[in-house]
Amino acid sequence: MKPIWIKNAAQLATISGANKPRTREAMSDLGVIENGSLWIENGKIMAVGSTAELERIYGERASEANIVDATGRLVTPGLVDPHTHVAYGGSREREFEMRLEGATYMDIMNAGGGIHATTRMTREATEDELIEQTTRRLDSFLAHGVTTVEGKSGYGLDLETEIKQLRVMKRLNETHPIDLIPTFMGGHAVPREYKGREDEYIDVLVNDMLPKVADEELAVFNDVFCEVGVFTPEQSERILLAGKELGLVPKIHADEIESYGGAELAAKVGAISAEHLLKASDEGVRLMAEAGVIACLLPATALYLREEAAQGRAMIDAGVAVAISTDCNPGSSPTTSMPLVMNLACISMRLTPAEALVAATMNGACAIGMEEKVGSIEVGKQADIVMWHISNYQELQYLFGVNHVQSVWKKGVQVVG
Ligand code: NIG
Ligand code: FE
Repeated sequence: MKPIWIKNAAQLATISGANKPRTREAMSDLGVIENGSLWIENGKIMAVGSTAELERIYGERASEANIVDATGRLVTPGLVDPHTHVAYGGSREREFEMRLEGATYMDIMNAGGGIHATTRMTREATEDELIEQTTRRLDSFLAHGVTTVEGKSGYGLDLETEIKQLRVMKRLNETHPIDLIPTFMGGHAVPREYKGREDEYIDVLVNDMLPKVADEELAVFNDVFCEVGVFTPEQSERILLAGKELGLVPKIHADEIESYGGAELAAKVGAISAEHLLKASDEGVRLMAEAGVIACLLPATALYLREEAAQGRAMIDAGVAVAISTDCNPGSSPTTSMPLVMNLACISMRLTPAEALVAATMNGACAIGMEEKVGSIEVGKQADIVMWHISNYQELQYLFGVNHVQSVWKKGVQVVG
């Protein structure tokens, strides 16, 4: 493979520094190099600096490289989406209309739609059909500059289909350019057939599903929807601790629709991240900061459900590391656009443009344990790079609703543009 020299970037936003969650002022530090350059070889970043510096080091080898002229362009790390439900069957556009007509998200779910509808369609789909549908979504992620994606099961809610979803993600991680990091989410909902027998379902989840998932190494994380009418904090804790014993790191959908002690539980069980947090209590946020739980905020979901977004600004000011994500799923956020999510993080949660970019790169990587490989442009990391058709990072958040991606490289291979 020929080396690649990306040079003359108007701004190279490296996000360099320690590979750990960025908090407070560190969330604004983009490590911007003006007239920046980077040298890629064998899929890895070999050098980063000003174009003048790289001329000195690599000038003699220029003729053997593919040279990419980034004059007038912003170059950033590939974006990281640390929370998706990307591997599902079917679609739910009728529910979108129903919500516009006045139904709530929970009304629809309790009537057998919502997560239950997608569970039916995912159970019915073959593995190959799921691969085909999920591939289209992953291609769209790449086209929007996203090179690493977390994906949850949770539309099977029985052993066979949960495993099917996780196998689909495993296959796609091996065959698609995107790194797809799997999370088990048998605790996404109580399946309809267990209505009124919630604890029996949790027994199956804990005794059958989790051990099988851990045994086959099909997931890194274990997530649960802790919400009024879904799983109580006590049930959620049981599910998360059972996973933790098997080596699955806890994550939690917390305080999305009602304030329910989810943020507090995330701190208590040592979750790597807590998700949504629209209704998180001040005390919960304080405990998260203290315990080092990353807040994974999903402003596109809030917009789509016409809810007020999470208190992103206040969380950063309270010392919580904030990551952002699409929540890509067929109900509450059917999008693959991380650029839109960055815009919304600024508009509806009052993050600064720099904070939104850190939330979509390094902090997202930390939320899925990928910080040693991705999330910044530094020597030794995977060459996951985006060149944007704009010249600075403020423009990326300012010119909203538009895809500014010009080119994307994944592990040093050009996959877009
Ligand atoms: O993160 N809140 C729960 N789960 C998803 C939505 C899943 C669905 O509606 O299919 C979420 O928003
Ligand atoms: Fe979600």
